[in-house]
Amino acid sequence: MFSRILKWAGMVVLGAIVIVLIAFGIFSFLFRQHVNKQYAVQVREIPVPEDSASIAAGKHLYEIRGCGECHGTDLRGKVFVDDPVLGLLAGTNLTYGKGGLPDSFDNKAWLRALRHGLNAENKTLLLMPSEEFSRMDDHDIAAIIAFCKAQPKIDAPPVPIKIRPVGKVLSVLGKIPLFPAEMIDHKLQQPAQVVKGPTADYGKYLSASCTGCHKPSLTGGDNPVPGGVPVANITSAGHVGKWSKDEFIIALRTGKTPEGKQLQVTDMPWTMTARYTDDELTALYLYLKTK
Ligand code: HEC
Ligand code: HEC
Repeated sequence: MFSRILKWAGMVVLGAIVIVLIAFGIFSFLFRQHVNKQYAVQVREIPVPEDSASIAAGKHLYEIRGCGECHGTDLRGKVFVDDPVLGLLAGTNLTYGKGGLPDSFDNKAWLRALRHGLNAENKTLLLMPSEEFSRMDDHDIAAIIAFCKAQPKIDAPPVPIKIRPVGKVLSVLGKIPLFPAEMIDHKLQQPAQVVKGPTADYGKYLSASCTGCHKPSLTGGDNPVPGGVPVANITSAGHVGKWSKDEFIIALRTGKTPEGKQLQVTDMPWTMTARYTDDELTALYLYLKTK
């Protein structure tokens, strides 16, 4: 009698293990399909300047678009997620030093990465937020490339990206934005140069950098990194709707909100928003007020 129960229990456990293995096999298969998909895109080439004013403009854009959060302030590359369950994610060394970009990484390769989210094999980059950058105008994208290419070579070995089983399952289910090439309109014709200034229109253009976490609607919700704190609603329906422009600027430069909360840089990257100029923060404020 007792041994029969044991036998049944053993079979149930064994069955459960087999089901988990099959499910994981299916997710691994689907994951490989996403990663190995090859895209046929037309990369529209644009001139990349080399003058010091463009490089300075590119440096500012590198800072406010958050490139440094994942590639390091000196472009040497950086591990930005190291989670025992999800995996290890690291931004590439963007210099032409050892372990960085190969000499063959030309302007077209830069544009393919930034505007299409694709690597040299025309397969999707992982987690690189190219969907946000794909909407930047020619002027800004060329300035960023100019800045990156003007930086000194740094020898820093590449850190291979590892996506662990739970990370694979969540990315296949669309819970982690791991495959930027799938989120991009590859036919989009970007403007040569948008009009910059303290206006809601320009704020809308800049807000592309907020949508990855605050969602395209800017109403927030679940954190894009599973287990992270919920993302605030930053439309006029949230706290921001009650803040003055000066309070908004202080919050985005120091992380201190008028409600007395200290935002943690690891949750809300205010060291990035601290680099925005007054005009840029005013533009964002005016745009958020319209939402
Ligand atoms: C959220 C993190 C993140 C941010 C922000 C980010 N990147 Fe990346 N980037 C990555 C990761 C991760 C990779 C490597 C992806 C891979 O190898 O699949 C990458 C790859 C790249 C590549 C392609 C390198 C290659 O070998 O093909 C370029 C170029 C690049 N990033 C430039 C930039 C620039 C410029 C910015 C800012 C405008 C930026 N990135 C912002 C995470 C990020
Ligand atoms: C990497 C993800 C991420 C990005 C990118 C991001 N945010 Fe946030 N933000 C958060 C999270 C998470 C919170 C909530 C933090 C908390 O509750 O402690 C937050 C909170 C805020 C708050 C405070 C809201 C309140 O009610 O107190 C403001 C304002 C804000 N973000 C504005 C922005 C703007 C503007 C941008 C784009 C320029 C931006 N954020 C980009 C993740 C992000």
